[in-house]
Amino acid sequence: MAFILSEEFKARAAKICARYPRADAALIPLLLELQKEAGYVAEEGMDALAQLLELPYSRVKAVTTFYTMFKREPAGKYHLQVCRNISCHMAGAAGLLDGLKKKLAIEEGETTKDGIFTLSSVECLGACGSAPVMQVNEHYFENLNEEKLDALLEELKHGRLPRH
Ligand code: FES
Repeated sequence: MAFILSEEFKARAAKICARYPRADAALIPLLLELQKEAGYVAEEGMDALAQLLELPYSRVKAVTTFYTMFKREPAGKYHLQVCRNISCHMAGAAGLLDGLKKKLAIEEGETTKDGIFTLSSVECLGACGSAPVMQVNEHYFENLNEEKLDALLEELKHGRLPRH
């Protein structure tokens, strides 16, 4: 069955497109909207968005696969993305990632049984000066250590995403 963009989504998309000189400049904000609606960006959603913006499907797919903020499969409520690049690695990111695997009893790319957490490691998040860094959905948590991470997990388990 073909993926249908909701009328509500199309109305929001028209408003977003109006802010940009060209439709393709609205691609990332619209992919984020799509992800907000479904929790991830499905192949069919990319196809429907390509048609809406009159862009080649390959362009939409390339953007979706390049940016790690886009989930391409159903994922947990909170997507924990630990930076694995050099600054974060030197500041202990690997230990934090291992700790998360043990605490959540999942490996990278997996989601906890309760559907709350999905765990990934990702390339540089562009906040190297505050290493180690983890992104949770669209939010960054910087200068992390074991203690801060435990406190954050507790908040998230109770459905609270602290804002920074
Ligand atoms: S190396 Fe981790 S944010 Fe750049």
